[in-house]
Order: sequence, then structure tokens, then C-alpha cells
Amino acid sequence: MIILGIETSCDETSAAVVEETGDASRPWRIRSNVVASQVAIHREWGGVVPELSARQHIRDICGVVERALEDAKGPRIDGVAVTQGPGLVGSLLVGLSFAKAFAWTRGVPLIPVHHLAGHIESLVLQGGEMPMPAIVLVVSGGHTSLYRISTPGVYELLGRTRDDAAGEAYDKVAKLLHLGYPGGPVIDRLARSGNERAIAFPRMRLTHADRNAPDLPGTRDFSFSGLKTSVLRHVGTRRETLGLTPADPLPDYETADICASFQRVVVDTLLDRLFDAARWYQARSVGIAGGVSANSRLRAEAEVRGAARQLPVFVPDLALSTDNAAMIAAAGLRRFRAGFDAQLDINAEASLAL
Ligand code: KG4
Ligand code: ZN
Repeated sequence: MIILGIETSCDETSAAVVEETGDASRPWRIRSNVVASQVAIHREWGGVVPELSARQHIRDICGVVERALEDAKGPRIDGVAVTQGPGLVGSLLVGLSFAKAFAWTRGVPLIPVHHLAGHIESLVLQGGEMPMPAIVLVVSGGHTSLYRISTPGVYELLGRTRDDAAGEAYDKVAKLLHLGYPGGPVIDRLARSGNERAIAFPRMRLTHADRNAPDLPGTRDFSFSGLKTSVLRHVGTRRETLGLTPADPLPDYETADICASFQRVVVDTLLDRLFDAARWYQARSVGIAGGVSANSRLRAEAEVRGAARQLPVFVPDLALSTDNAAMIAAAGLRRFRAGFDAQLDINAEASLAL
């Protein structure tokens, strides 16, 4: 079984060819994985502009798929997997429409995939099947969600952010410090030369039930908006003290201290929740997926905590941590193997639930 994957939910146009290996412990092999990033286009605006994103996907999709098929060295394609949601609806529609046309003209099945199921599958692509039960944290620009997986392909939501996603907090803090977009990689780099104990930013405390979603259990939820506001206040006060305007950067050493102190709170918060849940549910492995899993501090600290508890820690390679179609193809293979086959009248869903 060989599948073409397509991902266009946000600011990367990606296509990949992934095949089933027949080896139960390492089920998928990547034959090609092509990513055209739009970061340079959105950087000018300080964040992703949905309309520009959709239009750029239209320009890129044909070339990216052609290249993925070429790189895969011409195998037959048995099915096409595509991100159905969540994401920017105009952007999702480009990939979904392309995938429908491809499936129809080639007479192969169309398999819709949840973007986060794709991120979780990046862990299996990288390290093979996770020992079950597993606790997986998906941290990206749009999501911070904790899942329990007892059967591969079945995800139980344990908690999620009530406001900003972790990656979004990185992006907003970077914007405030005039560090450009996306914020994660630059804060990660600058934090290395800063003092992570220089500023005592607050840790998340959730003292009340989630009023916006009373039906969700919510005991393992996250919140990053308080931290972001606290960084905003600190930066405002420092600019005032130094006689700077909001357009001026702070001195380099102060910026580095803010990055390090902010990052320490984010990393501790994420890992405390992940390892607490692992202990509570007696997990046999843990994983971290999504764009923020590229963070060097998060990866290093997760390794240390995992080793101390003798728990294997799954993280994807950097190329598989940010959005890519190989993870979508792999998640599609898993769904297809479970007997799933979609009709051609499915629609993109901006807030699809997993
Ligand atoms: O998964 P992804 O590529 O797209 C979404 O589905 O959102 O994640 C993008 C996010 C951005 O917010 C970016 O700032 C963050 O991942 N990111 C990082 C790092 N690299 C990317 N955050 C922290 N540290 C990094 N090294
Ligand atoms: Zn993503």
C-alpha cells in the first residue's frame, strides 16, 4: 500500500509519498516529502494572513505534488490522504479539492485526515509504534492538546489550552520583542544566552472550570495568555524605565533574559502536565509532536525526565516536527488499514474535532 499525502492547513504546501512496510514495529517508510514554506510571505505581516496563504497554496500545489511523485521514483499510488481540518478554511480547501480531483481521476480512495492525528503519526514515522498506553502532547502554533492513546489510531483528549496555544505564545512574545515571525526558533536561539531565572514570570494556575466548554473535563488544561500578558507588562515597564518607545528594541542581554525566563515557564508547564498524566495513567511511553516539539530546551528536558522515569520519549526529527505531508500520508495509511474510505462530497472543516 502506497499513499500520496497532501497538507495545506496553514502556511506550508506539502505533498509526500509514504508506503506501508509490513513490519509491525516500523509500519511506514517515507519515499518522498516535499514542503514549500510560505514563511517569507507572511513574515512581512508578522503572522499568517489567511487570504495570502490560500492564494499561495493554489500557486504551489501542482508543482509540489509533481515533485513528490518524481522523488518517490514512480510507484503506483493506491490512495490519497489529505488534511480535512482543523486549519484555515481557504487553505484547507486547496489541498482537499486537489486531493478529490486526484482520487477521482486515478480511481483511488480519498482518505481525510485530522491535522493533529498527522502530528501524532510523525512520532511513529520517526521512532516506530509507541508502547501503549502512550501520552502524547501536540504543541503547535494553533494547538496545545494532551492525548491518551491506548489503541493506535484512537485518541482520547485529556486536556487542551483554554486560550493561546504554546506556539502562538512564542509568536506573540517574539512580535512584542521585535524578533520577527515565526517566534519559536528565534526565542529558542536567544534563550541559550539568557538567564532563565532573571524574571519570575507566573506559572499557569487554573482555579475554575472552563466556562466556554463546560462539557469537557478540563482538569489537565493549559493556559498561556496570563504568561503572555505578564511578558507584555514586563516589557512595557522596562521600556518606560529606559526611556524607550514601543518601537525600540530592549538591550540584547535583557531580550535574552526575557526569552530564557519565558521559555522556562512554557517548557516546565508543558512537561509537568505530560509527565503527570503519564504517571496517572501508567503510560509506557510519552511523545511530543507539533512545531513546538522542535524546541531544543523542551526536547532536552523531556529526555532527562523520561530517562529518570525509564519512560521512552518520542519526538520527531526537526523536518517532521513542523507541518509536512508525510505525517498526513502515514495517518491516512493507518485510517485506510482500519477500513476507512471517504466519499468525494466531504468538506474542509476549520475546527474539526479529533
Ligand atoms: O505545527 P506547526 O508547523 O504549525 C501549526 O500547525 O501551527 O507549528 C508552528 C509553530 C509556530 O508557532 C512556531 O513558532 C513554533 O511552532 N515553533 C517553535 C520552534 N520551531 C517552531 N516553538 C518553539 N521552539 C522552536 N524551536
Ligand atoms: Zn501543525
